[in-house]
Amino acid sequence: MNIYKVLPDLKKKKHLSIWHKALRSQWSAEDLNWDVPQRITSDKLKDQMARLLTPIIMGEQSALYSVSGLIPVLGHQSDVESQFYLTTWAVDEARHTELFARYYHRLGREPISIRRFPSGYLFQSAIVSKDAAEWLSGVLISEVMAKLIMEEFRRLDLDPVLSEISNGILEDEARHLGFNHIYLEDRFAGLFKKGAADGRSFSQHLHTRLQNVLDQVKPVLDALDPEIKAVGIDRQWLFERLSKEAKERLEKSVLCGEKVALGSAQAADPAQAAAYGR
Ligand SMILES: [Fe+2]
Ligand SMILES: [Fe+2]
Repeated sequence: MNIYKVLPDLKKKKHLSIWHKALRSQWSAEDLNWDVPQRITSDKLKDQMARLLTPIIMGEQSALYSVSGLIPVLGHQSDVESQFYLTTWAVDEARHTELFARYYHRLGREPISIRRFPSGYLFQSAIVSKDAAEWLSGVLISEVMAKLIMEEFRRLDLDPVLSEISNGILEDEARHLGFNHIYLEDRFAGLFKKGAADGRSFSQHLHTRLQNVLDQVKPVLDALDPEIKAVGIDRQWLFERLSKEAKERLEKSVLCGEKVALGSAQAADPAQAAAYGR
């Protein structure tokens, strides 16, 4: 049995606040009305949706595996507040996996097999890491992608159940992105307190990881190009928006961490500390 802190100090207020929010926001696939008539009735569109949703259901399952694997890792590091939050993140990804599995049943179709969709597998493999910060910088691509696609599904309103799924997932993804920022900001604050070089080099490392994951997106979009067009999503817009938003989010976490570090290092000068937002 591994208990690294018998009495956790629970000092990380931002982590705890998003954990409490996640606890209060839980919902179930059973809350949806699965009996509402299907709007996607043509065989062709069903086939296209089955292909298009493949990287999404793969992403949900992959996130469930990664988050579940990181829960004990954070425990070993005595980061109990992050560990708490990740328990809800795992529940969220399990719910998303169930939602899409049930949606496939509704379509009466199956996802593309891994053998026929190697780019989807390689994309998810590039994200995996046992270091929480490394994983979070890679999963930013997958999470921002999920957010953009769910926003598109909501706009296109292809099927009432899919729109309802998208609405629920968007709420969950907003929290995942929120925690991504909170964790990385805190991690960078610690590194920048040690020295600017430590913070800078880890930032470079994470930006490289993010770019490596982003490089795996184009082959996925190539494989699904006809389906993306058929449902009315602009592929170029999607990729550019994904690239811009994910990079900006990572850079914001780095800069906020640096500000926290500078603010606390110069806390003796209240005016300076206030300028850094502390
Ligand atoms: Fe998800
Ligand atoms: Fe997620």
